[in-house]
Amino acid sequence: MKIRGLKAALNGDKRYPAKIPTSAVDYLVVGGGVVGLAIARRLTQKFPEKSIFLVERNASAGQETSSRNSEVIHGGLYYPPNSLKMRLCLRGRELMYQYCKENSVPHRRVGKLVVAQQHQVPYIETLYHKTQQLPWPPHSDPARVHEPVVPARLVERDEVHALEPDLSSKIVAALLSTETGIVDSHSLMESFEREITEAGGELVYSTRVVRVDPHAGSSQAADHASEEIAEDGWVVQTVTGDAEESDALLARNLINASGLAGPMILNALLPRDERIPMYYAKGSYASYRGPGVSRVSHLIYPSVGSGRTLHGFQSLGTHLTLDLDGNIRFGPDIDWLNPPPMEVRDDVEVANPDFWAKHLVADESRLPQMYEAISEYLEGIQLEGLQPDYCGIRPKLVGPEGGFQDFVFRTDYPDSFVSSAKRAVRSGRETSPMITVMGIESPGLTSSLAIAELVVDDMLDKEEDRK
Ligand SMILES: Cc1cc2nc3c(=O)[nH]c(=O)nc-3n(C[C@H](O)[C@H](O)[C@H](O)COP(=O)(O)OP(=O)(O)OC[C@H]3O[C@@H](n4cnc5c(N)ncnc54)[C@H](O)[C@@H]3O)c2cc1C
Ligand SMILES: *[C@@H]1O[C@H](CO)[C@@H](O)[C@H](O)[C@H]1NC(C)=O
Ligand SMILES: *[C@@H]1O[C@H](CO)[C@@H](O)[C@H](O)[C@H]1NC(C)=O
Repeated sequence: MKIRGLKAALNGDKRYPAKIPTSAVDYLVVGGGVVGLAIARRLTQKFPEKSIFLVERNASAGQETSSRNSEVIHGGLYYPPNSLKMRLCLRGRELMYQYCKENSVPHRRVGKLVVAQQHQVPYIETLYHKTQQLPWPPHSDPARVHEPVVPARLVERDEVHALEPDLSSKIVAALLSTETGIVDSHSLMESFEREITEAGGELVYSTRVVRVDPHAGSSQAADHASEEIAEDGWVVQTVTGDAEESDALLARNLINASGLAGPMILNALLPRDERIPMYYAKGSYASYRGPGVSRVSHLIYPSVGSGRTLHGFQSLGTHLTLDLDGNIRFGPDIDWLNPPPMEVRDDVEVANPDFWAKHLVADESRLPQMYEAISEYLEGIQLEGLQPDYCGIRPKLVGPEGGFQDFVFRTDYPDSFVSSAKRAVRSGRETSPMITVMGIESPGLTSSLAIAELVVDDMLDKEEDRK
């Protein structure tokens, strides 16, 4: 089956006409997932004098991808050396442990084993050698740079089975990552929320962004007769709850961290043939109660880069995760969703960008396949012990054949979208950025504090300096 990308845009059905904003805010963050919250938190610390709003369409934070993942603090084994995923995972991991400790967020450094059968040994060896050459990422503590950034070692058969006696006898070696851990993502997000409100930031829930327009303020504000706000920015229309009417406000800086719907805002501004397609890959988890796992104490991952399932860039394979209560869960597998075909009638789109919501049920049908994958490394488990648990959707920027895709941070200015005549007069001012954070799949939870550091300290702070 060929998987299509969905090229839907915000306000594609043209329901909301343009409006004049009646109020303004310095920073507006769209999306109350772990990434949006981390960014809003960092903004309140960095710019305490500014007004900072976060809007989230659900009644509370973290209802989407951020509450449907493995809650693993990744050690940083897998991503290409110079990628943002690698850099932000490593920096994010350090910040995460520090943050959890200082703010009493439940977490544990349980460690992780990537286990290998004989034919998979070259895979873990390659992984090991790659990690040992990695440099510490930007912003790291200079005192640490002589230590390896990914503490890991290759473990031979006897030690592997001593560490994890339940492993299948086919497992002959493993890569042990000692910096991998687990975190209670809900407590983490609650802690971010608390800090944001205490610092004077506003969390606005049950409110969705329905339209965004670039706003190039007049350069001669004093001559301007109208009431219109004479500033650059983005006119953001929001709808709260079941309201019929939208509210319009001017955001001087806009940060779009809307997760699965991320590209929709941008798509609304781009010509239809330049739009960014969005792909959706579902991952299901199964809980497990039964024999064969009683002595498990690490996270256990298969070697995915080799063998029949060459999908290391798509997912990390059906692995064993532990939560902080010691429950065992397997997953996530990978199942690409096909969005319904998008129709355009009289320039009006008929598309449902939330089509994936109905797929958020973990079903029985995936269990036999999962059982088969797990039996490759745990021989004592039973199919009957697996129960469908929950599932999550990975926001993908490339489809199944796409290969590696990094996180994307894109900056746009209102001037890039206003008419060329107006732009000439204004000489293409680069003020009032909109930063769009796209494709934040795994390791997005691990990276969240580092993503916030990149967006606020490296990108937005420079914009402030330029003024
Ligand atoms: C199966 C699976 C397993 C994973 N496992 C791990 C892991 O073990 N470790 C790890 O580090 N990462 C993991 N990840 C990745 C991690 O979960 C994500 O990277 C992270 O949660 C993304 O957070 P986010 O804030 O970008 O997105 P989201 O959590 O999706 O938040 C976006 C928010 O924006 C809101 N929104 C959207 N549109 C609008 C609008 N128009 N107006 C207002 N609000 C809007 C949504 O309601 C949502 O709450 C996993 C992901 C998946 C799918
Ligand atoms: C979050 O909002 C979206 C869009 O309105 C909706 O489809 C989804 O069901 C909501 N999720 C929860 C948990 O309320
Ligand atoms: C926000 O980002 C998403 C991609 O993550 C994108 O689909 C959406 O168009 C963006 N919104 C705006 C207003 O640019």
